[in-house]
Amino acid sequence: MSRLRIEGLTHRYGLTEVLSGVGLRLPAGQTLALVGPSGCGKSTLLHLVAGLLVPSEGVIDNQFRNIACMFQQARLMPWKNAIDNIALGLKAQGMAAPARRARAAGLARALGLDADDLRKYPQELSGGMQSRVALGRALAIEPDLLLLDEPFSALDVGLKLTLYRHLRGEIDARGTAVLMITHDLMEAVRLADRIVMMAPDPGRMVHEFPLQRAHALRDDAWVYQTTGTLMQARAVRLGFGLDETSASQPVGEATTVRAAGCAT
Ligand SMILES: Nc1ncnc2c1ncn2[C@@H]1O[C@H](COP(=O)(O)OP(=O)(O)O)[C@@H](O)[C@H]1O
Ligand SMILES: [Mg+2]
Repeated sequence: MSRLRIEGLTHRYGLTEVLSGVGLRLPAGQTLALVGPSGCGKSTLLHLVAGLLVPSEGVIDNQFRNIACMFQQARLMPWKNAIDNIALGLKAQGMAAPARRARAAGLARALGLDADDLRKYPQELSGGMQSRVALGRALAIEPDLLLLDEPFSALDVGLKLTLYRHLRGEIDARGTAVLMITHDLMEAVRLADRIVMMAPDPGRMVHEFPLQRAHALRDDAWVYQTTGTLMQARAVRLGFGLDETSASQPVGEATTVRAAGCAT
């Protein structure tokens, strides 16, 4: 059963409609990627789901109870060191200091932070280290829903792959649902169970692609091939504003994409 249900969602800033007639469902344990170009309303949609904005029209029925967010900027508390930043949500949940430090330290180790890093304050950490801390903070509370707003987009490819691996491990171990936003189709192909393509002006959903291949079997070759196939789909080209005629061959959208790249 879907624990997040969105129907007929429209959002306006002033008179400008930035989302129009959006609907989606997300069951527990599923990773849904919303992919689209800058300005198509992805962050707005995530803020609406997080309850940080009130929709102009439509329904958002969110039954998830333990929600964590991760954004493009790490948004760490500058007056807390790394371990206390990771443990922040646990403190808010009332966990005692020794227990929350122990859990935070375990997560930090798994994310490649050492004891020295944990004593440092955000301004003493590199951008990559800050991202590790931010992911640790999001995962520490063992969320049932994780909202990701392009948290990996500024990272180098090696760190991206490290964080993807860790994130997938946690999702698989805990059955976390993930609503992730990205303009990077390849990231969506690596991580998601379903990709929903958005187009701008006003922001709307134009197509959905299921990715049925088991996550453990998604090697680089499969990811590159599937991303390449999707890039030729009409809905993807429309979403990114690409010239349809420059696709090397016409692709009949989901049916062909599934046959070429998404079979289990
Ligand atoms: N607080 C705001 N007030 C007015 N317009 C906004 C606000 N936030 C975003 N917008 C506009 O809404 C549109 C969608 O923005 P956003 O949701 O950030 O898109 P995305 O995350 O896909 O890049 C853009 O045109 C943006 O300029
Ligand atoms: Mg955004």
